[in-house]
Amino acid sequence: MNTVSGSAAAQGGDTRRPGGGSGETVAVVGAGLIGRAWAIVFARSGFRVRLHDQLPAALENCLATIGERLADLAHYALIEESPDTVLARISIADSLADAVGQAVLVQENVAEKLEVKRELFTQLDALAPADAVLASSTSWLPASSFTEHVPGRARCLVAHPTNPPYLVPLVELAPAPWTSVDTLARARELYERAGQTPVTLKKEITGFLLNRVQSAVLSEVFALYRDGYADAEDIDRVLKDGLALRWSFMGPFETIDLNAPGGVVDYAQRYGGTYREVAETAVAFDWDPDTIARLDAERRSRLPLESIEQRSAWRDRRLMALIAHKRGQPET
Ligand SMILES: NC(=O)c1ccc[n+]([C@@H]2O[C@H](COP(=O)([O-])OP(=O)(O)OC[C@H]3O[C@@H](n4cnc5c(N)ncnc54)[C@H](O)[C@@H]3O)[C@@H](O)[C@H]2O)c1
Repeated sequence: MNTVSGSAAAQGGDTRRPGGGSGETVAVVGAGLIGRAWAIVFARSGFRVRLHDQLPAALENCLATIGERLADLAHYALIEESPDTVLARISIADSLADAVGQAVLVQENVAEKLEVKRELFTQLDALAPADAVLASSTSWLPASSFTEHVPGRARCLVAHPTNPPYLVPLVELAPAPWTSVDTLARARELYERAGQTPVTLKKEITGFLLNRVQSAVLSEVFALYRDGYADAEDIDRVLKDGLALRWSFMGPFETIDLNAPGGVVDYAQRYGGTYREVAETAVAFDWDPDTIARLDAERRSRLPLESIEQRSAWRDRRLMALIAHKRGQPET
């Protein structure tokens, strides 16, 4: 159901382009992990960003942290302007009204709590310009669950990023039944101008597309681990040295289409029965604490908790190098 179109999408998202935003303002509400990352996305593509958080403490070192990320991106040529030029487009707004007053798009990134989002969307609708798109970064909540009561609910939708959105361009646009066609089209155009790769859900479902696919993969790898078929390191290897090599540039449908001489029908005839058998005998993982504790012991023996931050920075550098590589490759 990937409905990617447009120039940014054709390139797998070209997140470096300055000028996509043409100086328009995006309000980023909630300055935690995802809000700060969105600020980078919009600022580097030329939007002015007004960043707001209800906790002054969350805003304290915000610009300095964003500056550090921008320096990393510059190192991998993932921004076209200097970090200072991009950073200068981001400013802190002390009040919600001030943040959203001039916005063409409001990107909400507050805690994943239904009541908090319900209340905030009421306020955003009252404070933002009448034609602004109101988008939530929620990972799991359908837009209808927190916008039904909002007078301007036709301009509300989910725009779920993948962490961190300044490296991973996918954004899932998930409208509520009452989101207008115009809102969806404008959202799509704004995220493409921001260099992201939007995909559109045709109807609501908890977890949207990405988290549901991730959920299916996690359920199977945990079940294999729970039932003692391999240790965690080898199961991880199945992805990183196996399936995910292809998946970093083509999807599973494209993959199977090329894995039988006659394409997808041929593939289904050859292997469909076996896949059906696997599905019928699978015992889904129910997130039982014993299996989690066993995995934790295995992971912690390889990576002590105190090294997680360092390892995360390594992961981000690897991701930047991969994205820089992908950018130089032809799509077809
Ligand atoms: N962390 C991820 O990997 C990830 C990925 C995709 C989407 N998301 C979604 O993004 C959203 C934010 O997640 P996060 O990881 O950045 O959380 P976070 O805890 O890092 O940040 C949330 C911020 O929102 C602020 N906040 C809370 N209520 C507010 C309000 N009413 N007004 C203004 N600010 C408020 C908090 O002070 C905090 O700084 C969630 O909906 C989450 O599901 C997270």
